[in-house]
Amino acid sequence: MKIILGVIGLSGALATGCVHAQATAADRIPDTMEARVQACTGCHGAQGRGVENVYFPRLAGKPAGYLYNQLVAFRDGRRKYVPMNYLLAYLPDAYLMRMAEHFAALNPPPLVQPAVKRSPDQVRDGQRIVTQGIPAKKIPACITCHGAELGGREPGIPGLLGLRADYVSAQLGAWRFGVRTALAPDCMQFVASSLSEPEVAAVAAYLASLPVTTARPLRQPGMRLPLACGSQPQKGGQP
Ligand code: HEC
Ligand code: HEC
Repeated sequence: MKIILGVIGLSGALATGCVHAQATAADRIPDTMEARVQACTGCHGAQGRGVENVYFPRLAGKPAGYLYNQLVAFRDGRRKYVPMNYLLAYLPDAYLMRMAEHFAALNPPPLVQPAVKRSPDQVRDGQRIVTQGIPAKKIPACITCHGAELGGREPGIPGLLGLRADYVSAQLGAWRFGVRTALAPDCMQFVASSLSEPEVAAVAAYLASLPVTTARPLRQPGMRLPLACGSQPQKGGQP
């Protein structure tokens, strides 16, 4: 209930004009980005640090372009989670970019994750897929796009460290079933739908077993990706 009230409060505060139109109480709230994103941090943690709920992702430090693409996707219904779809409805692109830049610039310490027991075989299979891909299915190694240290790649590819196994499985499943879509060509749709369920579980277990480092998104603008991704446009006639 607290969260729902927060959401309603925020949608009011975010609808820029109306805060000023209705003076009184709203006038006493400082009009800063910190104040405006307060209902976001109810679910995403102080400074977008993440929270215990494994399905609520950390936002801090992810590439601004990636966060922006997600906000647009939630607003336009290409990525579905009802409270966020509702919260972002009608917000203009420029405002979504400001929120994305706000969270991208923050760097609070990662949450300490409880150790989860995984079978060594599963972790080993996951490591092989992440670092070598599955050539027989034409799935490129995840590190070719997400970075050798899995810290992501500017502007549109997120890091894969610090993601809980259930979150990774849920996102890959969402892509597979079309509930999450990225800008076309949607390279992750190909990757996710080419993985079998045990392969998804192995990748998720391996990623969750990695220590969360301070690896930052790479900046290599000319870098050629193994598949074309609409969220990571490439210049000079490359895919
Ligand atoms: C009611 C809880 C809730 C609120 C409030 C909320 N979010 Fe979210 N947010 C989520 C959940 C859950 C997801 C993951 C949804 C999914 O499964 O795809 C998410 C996903 C995201 C993502 C994608 C992150 C990624 O790594 O892919 C971004 C960006 C985001 N939220 C930003 C915001 C912003 C900005 C606000 C405030 C305007 C906000 N959220 C408010 C729960 C919430
Ligand atoms: C060809 C490049 C490419 C390859 C290869 C690739 N990814 Fe991605 N991945 C992306 C892009 C681009 C995004 C962001 C898509 C968007 O805008 O939503 C992404 C997003 C993700 C996300 C969402 C993260 C979040 O915070 O919600 C996960 C999980 C993910 N990839 C896992 C993987 C795994 C596991 C592999 C290897 C099996 C892999 N990716 C291989 C390009 C790639």
